[in-house]
Amino acid sequence: MGVNGRVHVLNHPFLQQELTRVRDKNLSQIEFRRSLVRIGRYMGYEILKSFKKREVLVETPLAKTKGVKIEGIDKVLIITVLRAAIPLTEGLIRIFPLSRQGIISARRMEESYRGGEKFDIEINYVKIPSIHEDTVVIISDPMLATGSTLEAVIEKIIKIKKPKRLIVACVVSAETGVKRILDRFPFVEIYTLAIDPELNSKGYIVPGLGDAGDRAFGE
Ligand code: URA
Repeated sequence: MGVNGRVHVLNHPFLQQELTRVRDKNLSQIEFRRSLVRIGRYMGYEILKSFKKREVLVETPLAKTKGVKIEGIDKVLIITVLRAAIPLTEGLIRIFPLSRQGIISARRMEESYRGGEKFDIEINYVKIPSIHEDTVVIISDPMLATGSTLEAVIEKIIKIKKPKRLIVACVVSAETGVKRILDRFPFVEIYTLAIDPELNSKGYIVPGLGDAGDRAFGE
């Protein structure tokens, strides 16, 4: 899917192989977490491709030559949606080592789900550094299911200030959630490894990969 170029499904073979690993129900907790870190790193590489590059001159010990500088790489703010995003953020930070970091703790209120609709979301902790006109925000959240959590998170962020770019890095998305976010926030860019077709009666993505938090940290 490429809705005005705002959804990027990353087909890099390494990422698709890691996705296959994390989908596997027999992958151990430790390997699942490690894999999410690797996915974060490679997603970071893919996101970086969308940054503007500037030609610079560099002087080697032998001569002057042309080089590249990536603009805005020092303006990144990564916002981690607790708790499942922690390993994904660990990977993203390797590509954006100068990034500042924010945290949002959000919980889906399971009892509020009535199949296909939204969850009510309880946000119980928000700590976000200042957002400026040139800030590129990357929201790190491995699962975009109904879009309810992400919607609440984006609302919190733009209430502070609308950043220059608002990128969402998620491993698996569901069509419903992608549509909800794109309809509601026309400026958001989504990077994902897959868009799965369904949500089950509990709002989990099918085929998905199960509960990302439980699988990364243990039940
Ligand atoms: N959160 C998860 O961890 N998994 C899903 O499938 C949906 C939301």
